[in-house]
Amino acid sequence: MPENIRFSARIGPSELTVQAEYSEKVRELLSLKYDRRPLAFVHTYGCQGNVSDSEHIKGMLAGMGYGFCTQAEGADLILLNTCAVREHAEDRVIGNIGALKQYKARRPDAVVAVCGCMMQQEHMALRVKNTFPFVNLIFGTNAVHELPEMLYTVLSQGRRVLRIPDGAGIIAEGIPAVRDSSFKAFIPIMYGCNNFCSYCIVPHVRGRERSRRMADILTEARDLIGRGYREITLLGQNVNSYGKDLTGEPMFAQLLREINAIEGDFVIRFMTSHPRDCSRELIDTIAACEKVARHLHLPFQSGNDRVLKAMNRHYTREKYLDIVRYAKEKIPDLSLTSDVIVGFPGETYEEFQDTLSLVEEVAYTSLFTFIFSPRRGTPAAAMEDPVSHREKTVWFKELTDLQEKIAAQRTAAMVGRTYRVLVENPARGKEGIVCGRTSGNTIIEFPAPETMIGSFAHVTVTQARSWVLAGELAEV
Ligand code: SAM
Ligand code: SF4
Ligand code: F3S
Repeated sequence: MPENIRFSARIGPSELTVQAEYSEKVRELLSLKYDRRPLAFVHTYGCQGNVSDSEHIKGMLAGMGYGFCTQAEGADLILLNTCAVREHAEDRVIGNIGALKQYKARRPDAVVAVCGCMMQQEHMALRVKNTFPFVNLIFGTNAVHELPEMLYTVLSQGRRVLRIPDGAGIIAEGIPAVRDSSFKAFIPIMYGCNNFCSYCIVPHVRGRERSRRMADILTEARDLIGRGYREITLLGQNVNSYGKDLTGEPMFAQLLREINAIEGDFVIRFMTSHPRDCSRELIDTIAACEKVARHLHLPFQSGNDRVLKAMNRHYTREKYLDIVRYAKEKIPDLSLTSDVIVGFPGETYEEFQDTLSLVEEVAYTSLFTFIFSPRRGTPAAAMEDPVSHREKTVWFKELTDLQEKIAAQRTAAMVGRTYRVLVENPARGKEGIVCGRTSGNTIIEFPAPETMIGSFAHVTVTQARSWVLAGELAEV
């Protein structure tokens, strides 16, 4: 057996049966407490992985009898699912918890729960516990499936509960989900991360890389597509290494082929790809699978080899550009997006120029740009960081200006062309206008009835504005 195979902690059916019994007990308690359906407000910070977790949290809450509301006011349970990736994300959470103090004073019976990545860090969980005595329940990412039991303790004994189990992480199959959309779905294919990029908190709060069984993923995908879902997004911090912990070999390309073979009209998306594990086989698979979107999110973080090494990214600028060149050759209409960090500790202005030149060379559709944020417990947080934040914001502006120029050129080139889009939502504040997403992940706004939301349409781009494209329904 290959050495790198490890068995993750799968939550067995007996544990889930225990939780189902607690779920029933909570339902009974709630029916005694309220003469109406109790309402929960679930607010999610951070990445799609957290959004997916919240959908499963809502699935458990629905099982306990909760309905849902879209704001804290009026809620009987307020749950904040937090993110720890940057300091700014954590500051927002702390501010929002503080704002709930008034509400709890008016509604002492309401339960306030805080969970997610931020709470998997003991120092943060204790800070929330000690600063906000009105928070009833605090739990980390490894305890999500125990929500019924924890909530039962809070409701039946009036005790505060804090649960942050250690360990490399869990996989819990069979937890129902209340999905945010009726036509777009997230499917987590793996959890955790083994890469330990020197700046990143994710492996510390999400545990080691662990893959769901392919059969479980395919069952979920078939079920969703059978129910009319039009877009499936496969989630993982490093989807390219999916399956390595199951068989010793990466199986992501195979997974894509299997999902692509499911009958139906739908789009397959995935994120995130790590350049280290992005193989030519994977690119060939994307090219060959007609349902896989022509979009690759491939974070490069920095264009400079010394900085990439200090980040522990395990690829060079040249290796990254080599994948990009191969991908562009095999998939000519491919849209590339990426994540970039500006001002990693010790990065010089000359080194930052390599990031700019890489952005120029690749010509991304869009970029997620971040100023380095030190995360307690990560190696980068202890590195010398002589460049001031003010200076980093100047570099940051240089990068976003460059990207804006590139994006404008790309969108201008789309004018006059017709794209197949998935109609997603009404355009905010624009009556009669809806938004559709192209295979390459670009949004086009166009006049159409809202009844088209959730279906595919062909749209011709008529105008490229700074952020969005305008178009009109095409005759096909
Ligand atoms: N797994 C993905 C990957 O390897 O590209 C990224 C996951 S992370 C949640 C999303 C992005 O946040 C990263 O790609 C990185 O650009 C950014 N990020 C992570 N830690 C950061 C930090 N300490 N400071 C600034 N940006 C950070
Ligand atoms: Fe963080 Fe790196 Fe893992 Fe992405 S690959 S989650 S950036 S440690
Ligand atoms: Fe944030 Fe956790 Fe995702 S730290 S970005 S919510 S994995």
